[in-house]
Amino acid sequence: MSLRYHRFDPSACGFPRPKVPVLAPLTAEQLTSKASLPRRQPWHFARGRYALRAAYEFAGVGPRGGLLAPAYHCRTMLDPALRLGGEVMPYRLTADLQADLDGLRRAAKACSTPPRALLFTHFFGLPRDIAPVADWCRSQDIVLIEDCSHALVLAPAVRTPASSSPRIGDTGRYAVSSPYKFFPCPDGGTLWSNDAALPRGEMAAPGLVAELRGLREALQQLCVRRDPPRLEAIEPQLQALDENPRHTGRDWTDPGGATSAEYDPASETASSLRVSRWIQRHTDVSMMVQRRRSRYRQWADAVALLPGCRALFPALPADCTPYMFPLLVDDPPRSFFPLKHLGVPIWRWDDMAVSDCPVSQRYRQGVFHLPCHQALTDQDMAWMTAAVARVMRGT
Ligand SMILES: Cc1ncc(COP(=O)(O)O)c(C=O)c1O
Repeated sequence: MSLRYHRFDPSACGFPRPKVPVLAPLTAEQLTSKASLPRRQPWHFARGRYALRAAYEFAGVGPRGGLLAPAYHCRTMLDPALRLGGEVMPYRLTADLQADLDGLRRAAKACSTPPRALLFTHFFGLPRDIAPVADWCRSQDIVLIEDCSHALVLAPAVRTPASSSPRIGDTGRYAVSSPYKFFPCPDGGTLWSNDAALPRGEMAAPGLVAELRGLREALQQLCVRRDPPRLEAIEPQLQALDENPRHTGRDWTDPGGATSAEYDPASETASSLRVSRWIQRHTDVSMMVQRRRSRYRQWADAVALLPGCRALFPALPADCTPYMFPLLVDDPPRSFFPLKHLGVPIWRWDDMAVSDCPVSQRYRQGVFHLPCHQALTDQDMAWMTAAVARVMRGT
């Protein structure tokens, strides 16, 4: 069965650039002289999507093997399976983004090719309950691929054996992560296996020009002084918007089957930049963890009493590092457009495969991904939370 996509194109809206970076830029205070990660690491790719492609291929996804994928997703989670010629079948999720086991069974039955792999995602870096899904996969002889793209997973060699429940990244036969979502580095995607040695792959090291470009990008971030966003600008900007209502974008459904523009086949076997790995080894990880957790809690407190929205996960479990703060809003157009016009950094997965999952349909436009990274300043947080409060209250 071929996919169709719900799509959203904001290009006619004229949104300004976000006033606060969505991902952490490199700043001097994040660097430490001690190497905090070991040099031995899993396979390194330029992005998690290319690590996923390798995992799907090892699992047998292709013209004769399908992929079960969470119905709430971004395109780059599906692209690698489409690129391999595999059928993709979205499975339902519950409101707290756990896999719905009945939905999984139904998705497996609906596949016209036998499903070979299941992608399980720890959304926003919060551990989702993987054990029942792992049991089900074993019973069906389906390869479990653990998507830790939103999670901070340190290399297996540095993890301590202390914890009792399985830690994020320890369960899937294959697991992938996206270091660039946490570390202030230009690229990165990793792949490891928990129960088999990875086959030997042919990876191409980036050339000197690419390394120099990555280094320049990092140095530019180190040198840039960003003007803090101004609280007092919120009111006049909203007033101007009221007086000149803007375009609200285009929302439509497309036939699918092709990979998205974010997938570059030429990068499939490129390894990540050395400069990215150097930055990862020299990032102060404990500061990153502590700051992200604290910014996440700050968001949860700031939205707790606001009308028209709520934290998707108000409580942050111990032992995890959040990637972003997901805010669920009741009436997405009413808040999305003014916030984006103010320059609030919001990501959404509004380009998503059509499925029968009501949760994913609602979250497609209704969940705003807001930054909680370690490079946010107190002023950034004060401005973002004030903008959200002002827009949600409507006065
Ligand atoms: C949950 C999830 N998995 C996988 C990916 C692909 O990761 P990458 O951006 O490193 O290619 C993404 C991309 O944002 C993602 O959000």
